[in-house]
Amino acid sequence: MQDRRRRRATISTDDTAASRQFVDDYRPEDDLLDAARRRGEEIGVTSVSPATGATLQWLAQLIGARAVAEVGTGAGVSGLWLLRGMAADGVLTTVDDETENTRAARQTFNEAGVPTQRVRLITGRPLDVLSRLADTAYDLVFFDGNPQESTRYLHEALRLLRLGGLVVFDDALAGGRVADPAQRDAATIAVRTLINDTRDDDRIRPVLLPVGDGMLVAQKLAD
Ligand SMILES: C[S@@+](CC[C@H](N)C(=O)[O-])C[C@H]1O[C@@H](n2cnc3c(N)ncnc32)[C@H](O)[C@@H]1O
Repeated sequence: MQDRRRRRATISTDDTAASRQFVDDYRPEDDLLDAARRRGEEIGVTSVSPATGATLQWLAQLIGARAVAEVGTGAGVSGLWLLRGMAADGVLTTVDDETENTRAARQTFNEAGVPTQRVRLITGRPLDVLSRLADTAYDLVFFDGNPQESTRYLHEALRLLRLGGLVVFDDALAGGRVADPAQRDAATIAVRTLINDTRDDDRIRPVLLPVGDGMLVAQKLAD
């Protein structure tokens, strides 16, 4: 038993920068995503990692997503990955409180040739916007906005999702801060609360993935 524990510990130390880079390079981004990422950098937006984007695409494809809601549009990197995983007529509703970011994302979707009817780009406060979206009408809801609003985001997501739908949170490990009990800042505590709440909620089945800065993915099993 002790040997097995030691072996597990040895394997877990393989979480090196080289491995993370390897995972990100596994599904390289094309020129359009690359340009969107650079556009984001120019306006101070940190886009999802390439591996996070690829996972979003994969999840959307896996569940045949037609309706996806996103909080934290940024320059449209995560949005473009999602659109590429969704059904060909699927619609992405994406919210950001910064006009400049919404504009950058529009450029990303235009350059990628995404038909305008496939994206609803909304500049506004996410919780206000989410509260106006229809119950059980969404297959996947992705959050990459304000971590301090995580609990309220989860509450809205459970209302918006159909049974079997997925709620996904980026930055679920917050650069290592979530796993470190010494970190007590408000954003870290909010994310820690979120991941504990999702584990303890019988309506959903969560998994925590060490992809990018951590992804919390939970499937809605019951109302
Ligand atoms: C990490 S970036 C999103 C990146 C984007 N998901 C991507 O990968 O391309 C976070 C975004 O959330 C927005 N944001 C942060 N806090 C917010 C809040 N309280 N309300 C609305 N948007 C917020 C920021 O304007 C920013 O565009």
